[in-house]
Amino acid sequence: MDIDTAERLAGQIESKELTLRDLFASDPKRAEKMTVSAAGWTLDYSKNLVDEPTLKLLLKLAEKADLKAEIERMFTGEHINRTENRAVLHTALRSAKTSGLVVDGQDVYADVHKVLGQMGDFSDLVRSGKWKGATGKRIKYVVNIGIGGSDLGPAMAYQALLPYSKRSIRCFFVSNVDATHLAETLLQVKADQTLFIIASKTFTTQETMTNARTARAWLVERLGEAAVSRHFVAVSTNTAKVAEFGIDPANMFVFWDWVGGRYSLPSAIGLSLMIAIGRANFKRLLSGYEAMDKHFRTAAFRRNLPVLMALLGILYSNGYGADSYAVLPYDQYLARFPAYLQQLDMESNGKSVDRSGEPVDYMTGPIVWGEPGTNGQHAFYQLIHQGTRLIPADFIGFCRSHNPLGDHHDKLMANFFAQTEALAFGKTAEQCRAEGVPEELVPFKTFEGNHPTNTLLADELTPKTFGALIALYEHKVFVQGILWDIFSFDQWGVELGKVLAGKILKELSDPALPLDHDSSTNALIARYRAAKR
Ligand code: F6P
Repeated sequence: MDIDTAERLAGQIESKELTLRDLFASDPKRAEKMTVSAAGWTLDYSKNLVDEPTLKLLLKLAEKADLKAEIERMFTGEHINRTENRAVLHTALRSAKTSGLVVDGQDVYADVHKVLGQMGDFSDLVRSGKWKGATGKRIKYVVNIGIGGSDLGPAMAYQALLPYSKRSIRCFFVSNVDATHLAETLLQVKADQTLFIIASKTFTTQETMTNARTARAWLVERLGEAAVSRHFVAVSTNTAKVAEFGIDPANMFVFWDWVGGRYSLPSAIGLSLMIAIGRANFKRLLSGYEAMDKHFRTAAFRRNLPVLMALLGILYSNGYGADSYAVLPYDQYLARFPAYLQQLDMESNGKSVDRSGEPVDYMTGPIVWGEPGTNGQHAFYQLIHQGTRLIPADFIGFCRSHNPLGDHHDKLMANFFAQTEALAFGKTAEQCRAEGVPEELVPFKTFEGNHPTNTLLADELTPKTFGALIALYEHKVFVQGILWDIFSFDQWGVELGKVLAGKILKELSDPALPLDHDSSTNALIARYRAAKR
């Protein structure tokens, strides 16, 4: 991060003590000036603790980090994932172009469209009932087995786009190695009408391979070995491992090492989603992503949604010391969106060394959390309103509901608008007194306000607006990684636990093995060994 600019930013924040009340009072056009639209979304960022000089400094940070050039490096396939020596090309997955990008000898767009075609043909077969199970029945259940990016994207998106899905096919998502996840899912499906999609970039992930093997054994027990080819397909970059597992490579949908797991929904990892919503809707989803990609790549930073949201996030993380931000979708279909963003943001920017390997001395990736409104209002909003922490929040809402029952949607959206107003402007002690609040209760009923929010509003949750929303957050995370000078596309931090779990697994199954961990871990393992079945 450019230290000089960051220090000037910190100086400004300390000296000014901005309040949203003053900022709005001093400029009647504030909302108008601080509202930008792209790809079906309107971002109102006026309820942020930012004035023009602060915004200018934030934009300076982007300039100093050479952001424009960094964006080009990503889009054109430079190996910006340096610790893994890979390009980062998830944007190519949603380009309508079918040629014109050759990276490391690969005709990227052509390959992308080839797989999209293969996925489309397969989805058509499954949706139309032409793809039959081993006993001649059509597929009614799709079980995606994957974890992390091979689960969170499709699981979240399936729920988000349920109104567009074929309701006669139900999708399930099994991720946890806890057998309960698979066992409870298998209770809800019938073997001869189930398609298992084994989704794993590497095809080596312990959780996924364990679930996949158990599911395979379950199916073979009911329908015999020959049934596997009608009931198992794979999505992976690793053809050899797929074949070794016993899935015919003809039933495999590939993607490439330049697609990070947490960016892989628009790749073949989205196969379950495509089966659910059909190839035309999947295409609309991709076009929404692409619209935001184009906006991100071409719009001036001052009007660029991902850039603005990234800069504001940096203001709160580094200027105000905020540890987290909340994502509050006012749409039940987006219930899993915060969980999806947790991987996208925290696995990308949970880093503490800069790109030259030196420890950073500033905060990087924040904690992401959230729940759909209005449920959150009756749970944790109290802390956002009156607690001691600064928690910036993104409010995401839609003008039209897929379920226009009575006045539900107006009530939902009344809460949506009311919350950002209350968070920004609060309620003063004087207002309380004017309302007749007894003096001894005034401190408790006073709302300080000044809690920053972004409002993201679209007409309707459609495949297109949904794709654009995901791309918006992807690019926001990218921008922050650049400004923090960290690598956003690796995830070495998850490796150590995996290695240690491998060692401990052996110790759990062989009680004769001596334990040489720390005293806490040794004692816990011994306790488990003594009580396990
Ligand atoms: O948790 C680490 C991770 O590598 C994620 O980045 C990834 O999305 C997930 O595991 C699953 O990996 P795979 O798709 O290779 O099974």
